[in-house]
Amino acid sequence: MEKILDIITSKMQAAFAAAGYDASFGRVTVSNRPDLCEYQCNGALSAAKQYHCAPIAIAKAVVEQLDANDYDMVEAVMPGFINLKLSGSFLAGYLEEMRNSDSFGIEKFGTGKTVVVDYGGPNVAKPLHIGHLRSAIIGESLKRLYKFFGYNAIGDIHLGDWGLQMGLIIAELKERQPDLPYFDPDFTGEYPAEPPFTISELEEIYPTASAKKKEDAAFAEKAHTATFELQQGRPGYRAIWKHIMNVSVADLKKNYNNLDVHFESWLGESDADPYIPPMIEDMKKKNLLVQSEGALVMPVAEEGDKKEVPPCILVKSDGASIYATTDLATMVQRMQDFAPDKILYLTDKRQALHFEQVFRAARKAEIVKPETELEHLGFGTMNGTDGKPFKTRDGGVMRLETLVSDMTSFVRAKVIENKIVAEDEVEETTKKIAMAALKYGDLSNQPTKDYIFDLDRFAAFEGNTGPYILYTIVRIKSILAKYGEWEHLSIQLPANAYAKDLMLAVTKFAPTAESALKSSAPNLICAYIYELSGAVNKFYHETRILSEEDETLKAGYIALMGLAKNILETCIHLLGFSAPDKM
Ligand code: ARG
Repeated sequence: MEKILDIITSKMQAAFAAAGYDASFGRVTVSNRPDLCEYQCNGALSAAKQYHCAPIAIAKAVVEQLDANDYDMVEAVMPGFINLKLSGSFLAGYLEEMRNSDSFGIEKFGTGKTVVVDYGGPNVAKPLHIGHLRSAIIGESLKRLYKFFGYNAIGDIHLGDWGLQMGLIIAELKERQPDLPYFDPDFTGEYPAEPPFTISELEEIYPTASAKKKEDAAFAEKAHTATFELQQGRPGYRAIWKHIMNVSVADLKKNYNNLDVHFESWLGESDADPYIPPMIEDMKKKNLLVQSEGALVMPVAEEGDKKEVPPCILVKSDGASIYATTDLATMVQRMQDFAPDKILYLTDKRQALHFEQVFRAARKAEIVKPETELEHLGFGTMNGTDGKPFKTRDGGVMRLETLVSDMTSFVRAKVIENKIVAEDEVEETTKKIAMAALKYGDLSNQPTKDYIFDLDRFAAFEGNTGPYILYTIVRIKSILAKYGEWEHLSIQLPANAYAKDLMLAVTKFAPTAESALKSSAPNLICAYIYELSGAVNKFYHETRILSEEDETLKAGYIALMGLAKNILETCIHLLGFSAPDKM
């Protein structure tokens, strides 16, 4: 379906042409004076310069050519603006078409295209902490948006499963349980199927080892050696690594599921390893690498750089590969497996330089096609109400689980206190409201900006919050349920000004979703559903809906509410949460 602005613009362009002026002057925009009109065209002002006549004369001549049926009001006003209000019949026709179209008639421009969304990025054996929250929430939302527009969108978690943290765990385990068969180089039997640790032990082993590394040089050396031997394929270490992966991935899956965040691909840095040697060979052949203090690096600085972009280090002096190496090798793998049209990465914005280097290196080494789009969305920090990075009460890094359970308890108390649902539904409802509070609280901010995590504010049932949006959906659902079968009802002319405002808000769905995708900005969807919910509630308060005696009129109200509900539900799905039946 064509977007409403494009339709009115085409009509305006035709009117300019019919009045004898260049059609290109007929661009229509959303009005910046909503008190005066809904849409406006300022083309007559520019046209006047070219045609050397008064803008108002042009505006008047153009207005003559417009089809009066499309507008409640069309006016040429001084000095030459054309102000428009759409007619009820135009709007009703448009909404009826939206109602009957797949995905409300959005243009599925992603059909046939593939995008890899690299988000999550947890490190194996380390618990998820709040630093992982934004990547999960924003990434999941963008991935859902890509799918909505028809893309084959692949969410890839890109586990941090190959670095020194693995060697640290192996070295620490060896000190604690040297007799395990994994450490016996002569062992030839089957390694035990049971892991030598639980997830909570693992989560204790890693930080202990990490602290020890800083104090104990000999231990650090052992960890480095273990990392190296693991990467070289030492069987016992590979077996421990598999245990770490199994235990850790099961825990990660549980945590991400809890957040309703799902990955299509569970590959990690380790999966890129086989692609490294041939990639480095190819870079050497292309003469892209230089020696620098024993390391192999690729210079990526470009003329016109405003700040220094250091060379991309690929092989360290000890032969080990680093973060950039695995990222590039992962691109090789992704191009081979999926040939994506785009790869989108989500991390903290402090990794911006890393991605700048990696993207430049990928282009120089022709790892991606010139037309493959590479985007890094660097997000801001989540701060506490004191404006500083969010911490636990004792100043530590807060686990993601703790944050989610704090929010859940807070919401649960409200659900119980307000007797929102029957006892056996408390958990389900609580979970949905808590997710909405958490995700909307994050996503309603521009991703690149820092934001303040405020439990009270995010979980409020009024104001610009997730629970308020859910509340609106639940209210509509209850009206629809009382009415009965409604899906077949068609949209009618707006019966009052509130209905018209609601209809106008509905038409903004497609342009909003499109902008959200194109600018990687789920916050636009939040702002939109806040506006749409406001229009729904205003309409609800000002209109007798279920008690309306005129059945035809009532059916029209219900159809409009139904369409608004479907759009709201689609939007919250795109944000990654869903609505309960009661609230
Ligand atoms: N594991 C990384 C970290 O904790 C994030 C990975 C992001 N994705 C990527 N392809 N580099 O910083």
